[in-house]
Amino acid sequence: MTPSVLPTYNRAPLAFDRGEGTWLIATDGARYLDMGAGIAVNALGHAHPALVAALTEQAGKLWHLSNLYQIPEQVALADALVEKTFADTVFFTNSGTESCELAVKMARKYWYDKGQPDRVNIVTFSGAFHGRSSAGIAAAGSDKMTKGFGPLLPGFIHLPFGTHDALLQNTMDDTIAAILVEPVQGEGGIRPLPAPCLRGLRELCDATGALLIYDEVQCGMGRTGRLFAHEWAEGAAPDIMMVAKGIGGGFPLGAVLATGNAASGMTAGTHGSTYGGNPLACAVGKAVLDIVAEPAFLEEVGRKAGLLRQRLEGLVDSHPEVFETVRGQGLMLGLKCKVTNTDVVHAGYAQRLLTVPAADNVVRLLPPLTITDDEIAEAVARLDAAATALSGKETGQ
Ligand SMILES: Cc1ncc(COP(=O)(O)O)c(C=O)c1O
Repeated sequence: MTPSVLPTYNRAPLAFDRGEGTWLIATDGARYLDMGAGIAVNALGHAHPALVAALTEQAGKLWHLSNLYQIPEQVALADALVEKTFADTVFFTNSGTESCELAVKMARKYWYDKGQPDRVNIVTFSGAFHGRSSAGIAAAGSDKMTKGFGPLLPGFIHLPFGTHDALLQNTMDDTIAAILVEPVQGEGGIRPLPAPCLRGLRELCDATGALLIYDEVQCGMGRTGRLFAHEWAEGAAPDIMMVAKGIGGGFPLGAVLATGNAASGMTAGTHGSTYGGNPLACAVGKAVLDIVAEPAFLEEVGRKAGLLRQRLEGLVDSHPEVFETVRGQGLMLGLKCKVTNTDVVHAGYAQRLLTVPAADNVVRLLPPLTITDDEIAEAVARLDAAATALSGKETGQ
């Protein structure tokens, strides 16, 4: 029988009733340490008092208002994002996928308006993930995501991750509208692009005129210890940036940030969204940003990231039969596994620890940015217990 909920997810047999900071309380009362944060969504953990207050205050006033009207909460959040980033302008969406849709449209419209309507191609990289819409799956291009869903949206050129030469020598002709890249690949297995590579892409775009689009849906909003991950690479700001996940702290919200030049084609009537930028989402988003963008908060993310990484390196040394290495940036860390990554995730459930699998046999750790030192120690202790249980199984103990 077909289940009432379309079975497109491989769900764990766990259901949760409520959350408190880094903890999730299951329906049977068991407390789980949440090192996944809804896949980098709950940036401030669960039920953060400032977000609960922002949501409930706005809920009592106004939830939804069409973009036919002025929305002061939207303007306040856009102003704050513009003040703190490279961007001149912001469009609010409800998800990362929708941000991808607009980023692609914006880049193509830019060149159309410049009198180059054939300049439509967008360069992307293997292992990328940009969402599940037709544009998102075509952008990623992997068989896993696209098989059976053709015909695919044309105009994406896929290059191997980290290949400079192929890019430089063969690809950047006058059909290329933009390069689209995650500064730190998330679903692809927590693979950061080093700062010189981001700068190289920026220089290539400057030389050829192509627009540079960053997908910071997963790596943005403080996750790496800067408000956005690309800020670690000086002089590598994008023209367009996709944001979602952490920006709403758990409330559905996304955004596309852009320079005035890159956004110049997006005039009245060229794009829209019924829910995008609704007062409820923007009130919560502003409360998130007010906390995450504080330099002291970001510095603390960096400090805790260093602590977690150090402990994870110790874990890898203690369990060389289970783990290969630690990689990533900030509180976006991946354990490359020797055993099957989903076995590690499942062994974590037995220790009441939540982690997230990724491609390339990686287990992702994306905790709330508010995680404490004690919780970091506890998470690593639970991973250690999970790895010990797995090693026991491997050796038949
Ligand atoms: C880098 C990146 N881009 C886009 C998306 C799609 O976002 P959403 O699931 O909100 O549509 C994701 C989601 O995991 C992502 O990690």
